[in-house]
Amino acid sequence: MRKTFRNYWVPFCLTAGAVLTTGSSFAQQVTIPVETQHNALVLQTDAEKNLKMVYFGAKLGNTKEYESIQKMYNQSDDSGILNSAYTPSGSANLAEPAITVTHADGNKSLSLAYVSHVVTKVDDDISLLTVTLKDPAYDFEVKLFYKTYFKEDVTEQWSVIKHGEKGIVTLNKFASANLNLKGAGFWLKQYHGNWALEMQPEEAKLTHGIKTIDSKLGTRANLYEPSMFMVSMDKPATEDEGKVLLGALEWSGNFKIDLELDVANNLRVIAGINNAASEYHLKPGEEFTTPALVYTYSDQGKGDASRKLQNWARKYKIVDGEGTRLTLLNNWEATGFDFNEAKLAELLKDTKKLGVDMFLLDDGWFGNKYPRNDDHAGLGDWQENKQKLPNGISSLVKEAQANGVKFGIWIEPEMVNPKSELYTKHPDWVIKQPNRPEKYFRNQLELDLANPKVQDFVFGVVDDLFTKNPDLAYIKWDCNAVIYNAYSAYLKKDQSHLYIDYVRGLYKVLERVRAKYPKVPLMLCSGGGGRVDYGALKYFTEFWPSDNTDPLERIFIQWEYSYFYPAITSSNHVTDWGKQPLKFRTEVAMMGKLGFDIVISKLSADDQAYLHEALKNYNSLKDVIWHGNQYRLQSPWDNDAASIMYVSEAKSTGVVFNYLVNNRYGTGTHVPVRLKGLDPNKKYQVKEINLYPGAKSSLENNLTLTGDFLMTVGVNPHVNSNRTSVVLQIDEVK
Ligand code: DGJ
Repeated sequence: MRKTFRNYWVPFCLTAGAVLTTGSSFAQQVTIPVETQHNALVLQTDAEKNLKMVYFGAKLGNTKEYESIQKMYNQSDDSGILNSAYTPSGSANLAEPAITVTHADGNKSLSLAYVSHVVTKVDDDISLLTVTLKDPAYDFEVKLFYKTYFKEDVTEQWSVIKHGEKGIVTLNKFASANLNLKGAGFWLKQYHGNWALEMQPEEAKLTHGIKTIDSKLGTRANLYEPSMFMVSMDKPATEDEGKVLLGALEWSGNFKIDLELDVANNLRVIAGINNAASEYHLKPGEEFTTPALVYTYSDQGKGDASRKLQNWARKYKIVDGEGTRLTLLNNWEATGFDFNEAKLAELLKDTKKLGVDMFLLDDGWFGNKYPRNDDHAGLGDWQENKQKLPNGISSLVKEAQANGVKFGIWIEPEMVNPKSELYTKHPDWVIKQPNRPEKYFRNQLELDLANPKVQDFVFGVVDDLFTKNPDLAYIKWDCNAVIYNAYSAYLKKDQSHLYIDYVRGLYKVLERVRAKYPKVPLMLCSGGGGRVDYGALKYFTEFWPSDNTDPLERIFIQWEYSYFYPAITSSNHVTDWGKQPLKFRTEVAMMGKLGFDIVISKLSADDQAYLHEALKNYNSLKDVIWHGNQYRLQSPWDNDAASIMYVSEAKSTGVVFNYLVNNRYGTGTHVPVRLKGLDPNKKYQVKEINLYPGAKSSLENNLTLTGDFLMTVGVNPHVNSNRTSVVLQIDEVK
C-alpha cells in the first residue's frame, strides 16, 4: 500500500512504493531536496510561488539547512526570475526561457507557479519527484520530473506539458531541463566532429552570454556536435579532482543546449529538443513529453563522474548492460559491396578459425532491380540480391551454424535510394520538398517516419528478417544521411512537427522491435558515431563509435566516448586502417566489445598465433572490461603513452592497456604509471600478457606488489618504440 504524507519540507528518501505530497495551501516556502548518495539538487519556492533551483552539488549532512542556501546569495532579480527551475517566457522573466508558448488566444505570455509535488519511491534505488506548475492566468500546466538513481548519483530530468485551453496551443520552445549552477567560474568541455573524426574535445571557460551546442541535422544528429557535455565549477576539473557535471540528452534528433552565464554569475543550462523549425501544436488535453536530460555530478573529478554514468547505463539504460556480448568478424572493410556466396563461405570458415562468436554481413546483400553494388542504389529494397546470394540469407545462417558460429546482418531501414523500387512505389513516403530539387547525403534520402505506414514498413524490415531467419543472431542498424529539404507528405499542415515526429516514429518502431525481440543484440551505427545517445541506446546493446578504426585515432576517440558510455557499448573492430602492428590494433579494440574486419587467411602464422592468445586473454578478461570500473590513468592528449585500466568490482582482477601515442625519438613510459581502483591492502601479481610470438616481457617474473605500492608508486609497462602496446594483467594473490 502507498503512504501519503503532508509536509512543507520534503526529504527525498522514502521506503519503496511510498508517495509523499506537499500542498501549497499549507506552505509559505517549499524546499525540495532531490538527493542521491553523494549529491543534492535543491528546489525552493519564493514568495510568489516561483520554483527555483537554489543548489546543485555535494549533499549536506543536515538536510534542514538546504532552506538557508538561497539567503546566502545576494542577488537582485531585476533581470527576471533568477534561478528559475523552468523559466517561462513573456511574463516577469527576461532571461533565456526553458519554455515559450503561444496560447490558443494568440497571447505569448506564460507564468508558472508552484502548485504541488509528489515523490514516489520506485524501489530501493530509484525515486521519482514530480512537481506541478501552473499558469495562474491560463489553463496551462507543466510537470517537471526528476528521476533519481540514488546509488549511481544520476538524475534523469524531463517535463510534460499540457493545457485545457479552447483551441490549439503552439509550443515554441520546450526544454527538458533548466539547471542553475553556482560557482566561481565555469568551464565547458564540449565535442565536435565529422565522419571519421568523432568526439574531438574542446574545453574553455564560459564567458557572459549564451554558448549553444546544437544540431539541426535531423537524423545522424550528433555528427558535427554531439549532445554530451561537461561543466566544471570553480576550476577546470581533472580526472581525479574538481567539481564537474556530466550531461547528455536522451534524444536522437535535433537538440539545443544553451549555457548562459547570467547577470548574477549563475550558470543556466537549458537543454532539450531544438525548437528551430519545430514549433509544436498541442491540442487541449494532449501531453507533450520532452526527452530526458541525464546528468551526474562529482566533486572528485571527471573520472568519478564518468564511472557513475557508466554504472547507471549498464544497470538501467542500455539493453542487457549487465549481460554478455558477441565477438565477431565483419566483412565491410575486407570486401565492401563485392562478395558472393563463395566468398562468404570462406569468411564463415575464417570466423570459426579465428575463434569469435559470430559473422556479421555488412552492406550490399540486397536489391535486385537496383542491386546494391555500391552506395548509389538499392536502399529500401530489402530482398536478397539473387546474383550474390542465390540461396538467400537463410542458407548463410545455416552455413554459419554448420561452422559453429552465429550470423548477424546489416540494415539501414530508415533510408531509401532514389534508385530503388521502394522510391518508385512510394514517393510519398520519402522526406523531400515537393517543389525543390532533391539533395542527397550519401546518395540517399530518409523515409518519413512520422507516417505510421512507414513505421510499419521499417518494423517489417526487421520483423521479416527474424521471421524468415529465426536463428539470426544480431543486427547492425545504420543511418548514413542527414535530413535535407524537410517535408512530410503525411504531416500536411503540421510540417513543423517533422523533426520531432520522425524521432518519435523511430522510437515507436524500436519499441515494437524490442517488444517482440527483447534480447537480440543490436548495434547502433550512423556512418560511424553520428547517433550515439541514450535515447537510442535504450534499444541497443552497443554502438559503432567511428568508421575511423586507425588504432592511434581510436585511442583518442574511445577515450572521449568513455566519459559517457561504458566499454561494453563500444564496438571496436580490428581493421587494416593505420600503420600500427596487429598487436597494437587488437589491444585498442580489446578496450570494449571486440570485433575484427580483416582477412584472416592473409595473416602470417605469427599474427595468427598472437590473435589466438589475445582472444584467449580477452575471453578471460572481458567480464572485467565490460562490467568493471574504468580508470583513465594517463591521457593520450598529454603524454607519450596512454594508459587505461579496468578493475573488477571486487578489486581482485584488473587489466591495464598502455599505448605509445607519440612516435618521436626517445618517447615512452620513463616513469611508472600509477594504477587506480585497487585495494591498498591486497597483494597483486602483475603480469604482461598478449606477448607477440618470440617477444619476452621486460617485467620481472612473478612481480607481486601491494595495491598500496601499485597505486602510490606505480608500475612501469616499459612502453617504447619497440614495445608500442603493452597489456598488464593484475591478479589478487591470496
Ligand atoms: C557506414 C558504417 O559506419 C560502416 O561501418 C558500414 O556499415 C557502411 N556504412 C556500410 O555502408
